[in-house]
Amino acid sequence: MSVMQIELTRPDDWHLHLRDGAAIADVAAATAAVFGRAVVMPNLRPPVTTTAAALAYRERILTALGGAAGFEPLMTLYLTDRTTPGEVAAAAAAGIVGCKLYPAGATTNSDDGVTDLEALSRTLEAMEEHGLPLLVHGEVTDPEVDIFDREAVFIERVLAPVLGRHEGLRVVFEHVTTSEAVEFVASAPARVAATITPQHLLLNRNAILAGGLRPQNYCLPVLKREKHRRALVAAASGGDPSFFLGTDSAPHPRSAKESRCGCAGCYSAPIALALYAEVFSSAGRLDRLEAFASFHGADFYRLPRNRDRVRLVRSPWRVPDAYPFGDDEVVPLRCGEEIGWRVERVEP
Ligand code: NCD
Ligand code: ZN
Repeated sequence: MSVMQIELTRPDDWHLHLRDGAAIADVAAATAAVFGRAVVMPNLRPPVTTTAAALAYRERILTALGGAAGFEPLMTLYLTDRTTPGEVAAAAAAGIVGCKLYPAGATTNSDDGVTDLEALSRTLEAMEEHGLPLLVHGEVTDPEVDIFDREAVFIERVLAPVLGRHEGLRVVFEHVTTSEAVEFVASAPARVAATITPQHLLLNRNAILAGGLRPQNYCLPVLKREKHRRALVAAASGGDPSFFLGTDSAPHPRSAKESRCGCAGCYSAPIALALYAEVFSSAGRLDRLEAFASFHGADFYRLPRNRDRVRLVRSPWRVPDAYPFGDDEVVPLRCGEEIGWRVERVEP
């Protein structure tokens, strides 16, 4: 008989985009309703490159939430070719949880990203010294490399070498999408971890391209073949503490996504935990959802685990076609379709 409800320690989202301005209020509440904390990505326009900017952004998020039930945004710095060791020290002292590496041009708002990681060695040394993790968007930007191969090539060309040069550097390989990335992280030392999104666990690349083009399923790194999806499910549900929840919920206004050059990013915040529950339920491993969603990430970031709880109840509902988003709207993953679980907060 299938499990009808489960309770777990309140989860955290270790990779999230909250955007800025009026849109924050529309999307942050969806995350705060379920998750205790979230690692907030710094790819605003202009990017969040200093500790002062990150702390100001944190205040805008908290203001937009109006003090919603104990949600804690965990802030990150956007690495550029000019990030100094002094900025890293200031960030660590201010409670910033990591520095995000976007190879220049890899994804949305990454134009100011890093062009030469080797030239940043003193900054990376400061991160080692302060125990500040490097969060990587793991794709090469070389136009010669096929978009479906960019993650695997990144491992060889960038990730393995930087881990070799910096033996104390802690790294989160964000939103892994391939069996190559899973194998790399599983066999790497404990200082290397990875986040996995709901879309990469549930969908393969047919979900973007077969039977009509579905922009709501288009993100970067792009969805891959079925064999990669299966490797991700095995990693997420396998109990290895190196893998944890990171939605990469990345809302874009419908007008920007459904256009001649549509933005990359899937919006999942309101349904993310329910989507992960579907994945773990179909894998027959609901018993491992809590560790993936609520323990492994906190342990890696050396933060306490949450103490309050949420309940997932098997009770299908229909996901809206769109949610409000500033003066536009955002089309979520699974739009207009059924989802199997509902999330409730458990009163202490
Ligand atoms: C993200 C965004 O829109 O900010 N897009 C995405 O497809 N995941 C950027 C990112 O995390 O790559
Ligand atoms: Zn992201």
